[in-house]
Amino acid sequence: MTEAFELRGGVLHCEDVPLPDIAAAVGTPVYVYSSAAMRGHARQLQDVLSTLGDPLIAYAVKANPNAAVIATLGAEGLGADIVSSGELARALAAGIPANRIVFSGVGKTRDEMAEALDAGICQFNLESGNEAQLLSEVATSLGVEARAGFRVNPGVEPGTHAKISTGAAESKFGIQASQALAEYARAAALPGLKLQGIAVHIGSQLTSLAPFEQAFATVGKLIAELRAAGHEITLADLGGGLGVRYDPHAAAPPRPAEYGAMVERLTRNWDVRLVFEPGRFLVANAGVLLTEVIRVKPGATHPFVIVDAAMNDLMRPTLYDAWHAIEAVRPSGRRATANVVGPVCETGDTFALAREMDAVGEGDLVVFRSAGAYAATMASTYNSRPLTPEVLVDGDKWAVVRPRIDVARLIDWDVVPDWLAHQIA
Ligand code: LLP
Repeated sequence: MTEAFELRGGVLHCEDVPLPDIAAAVGTPVYVYSSAAMRGHARQLQDVLSTLGDPLIAYAVKANPNAAVIATLGAEGLGADIVSSGELARALAAGIPANRIVFSGVGKTRDEMAEALDAGICQFNLESGNEAQLLSEVATSLGVEARAGFRVNPGVEPGTHAKISTGAAESKFGIQASQALAEYARAAALPGLKLQGIAVHIGSQLTSLAPFEQAFATVGKLIAELRAAGHEITLADLGGGLGVRYDPHAAAPPRPAEYGAMVERLTRNWDVRLVFEPGRFLVANAGVLLTEVIRVKPGATHPFVIVDAAMNDLMRPTLYDAWHAIEAVRPSGRRATANVVGPVCETGDTFALAREMDAVGEGDLVVFRSAGAYAATMASTYNSRPLTPEVLVDGDKWAVVRPRIDVARLIDWDVVPDWLAHQIA
């Protein structure tokens, strides 16, 4: 795959589109996504999993729920992993067939279950015994059968940031592996449930295969035990979590081919349909956040580069201490060490400290790389900042796939009650 973002004639492009053209037309900050990169990642995953029969690759919509992004991946034959009725609506609206949708999450409500049953999704991944009870009630009341499996917590430490690991013993996610036989036995006796599967997801941005391997081994063992206890298990959902490269100087995450080979080795005798729930792998490195330098001011040690994007647009650095590459759109070749910050009134509005990077000055365009996943979707309007727009590029075509939600619109959403009306008249 050719690089989706590369310098051509000294100017950073997304595919065939110079980023300054997008900044000039749409303004900054703006998210820019490459269709070719998303397709490339989807095909790469399909390719490395192709020895596994007919796996369902269900894109974890939470990573980037823009309709155009889901549609791009849907066109490659991907399904969707959802965690809310909002994501169900988005996946269906973007053309994902219901029978390629799996529903994860610890807090599914009665209404969300009813909507997903009505749509006819592939599987509910249950995270507790009482959730199974409620799903049984909802399915029975609708006169349908709910296809389900339990998400088991294998008690594996995934070695990622604490806020995005989900498979350690004391985690809100899944049922304890040691309780699986008892939970399946109870749920199998409930009407309206077809217990057909098992699921696992231990965390996100995993940079080594070992925790996956440990978790999948537990699943394999459980499949055998569940079958011995009389359960018919036909589907195993191995979750998402495959890490991507943020820092080119850091250790590389596992290569997709290595992940595929490991899965092939561990699941060889399972005799099930496999499901995968990748999010970050598909979209993270397919996007950038394009921003402009407002001004540079001196600091005690390093200058502060103040850009027009802020923590409300890209939360990952302040929330997870995440490292995003920062590059000039028209690099001069000069390098500098700087602190890169946004305009929000919090010290946490810091993208990088003492970063060795392209030297930039007022008015220069800069990108935060790897901003296609868990970026635009986690944005807020804190400090009454507009919601950042999103642009999708495909070859030499590009389109605004979500406009900037400006402050006039935000003010419109507020309601001033009668008793204060005189105040604003
Ligand atoms: N399946 C389930 C059940 C999940 O909870 C997640 C992510 C995925 C799949 C997709 O994982 P991925 O392939 O993207 O690693 N906001 C954080 C990441 C939170 C991940 C939540 N769950 C971040 O910016 O790093």
